[in-house]
Amino acid sequence: MSKTIVITGSNSGIGKAMVMNLLEQHHDVIMVARDSDKTTQVYETFCEK
Ligand SMILES: NC(=O)c1ccc[n+]([C@@H]2O[C@H](COP(=O)([O-])OP(=O)(O)OC[C@H]3O[C@@H](n4cnc5c(N)ncnc54)[C@H](OP(=O)(O)O)[C@@H]3O)[C@@H](O)[C@H]2O)c1
Repeated sequence: MSKTIVITGSNSGIGKAMVMNLLEQHHDVIMVARDSDKTTQVYETFCEK
């Protein structure tokens, strides 16, 4: 069953890897981070293909 999961520190490192892993498992992910430019780059990499 798909879940909605909040990941803090989601724009690099372990947080970014968790976002990718959870999306591959078809969960919905809410990204939380301070640097919006870095976060937008990660979003565009994973979600706007
Ligand atoms: N990588 C490893 O193999 C490893 C192994 C064991 C433990 N750890 C620990 O796990 C943690 C994360 O590692 P990482 O490699 O993923 O680090 P990272 O790539 O530097 O990522 C850190 C994340 O946390 C956010 N962040 C940094 N300082 C913050 C603050 N003061 N308040 C809120 N958000 C903050 C950053 O977002 P913004 O840039 O937007 O602030 C970024 O998304 C670290 O504490 C590290 O020591 C890592």
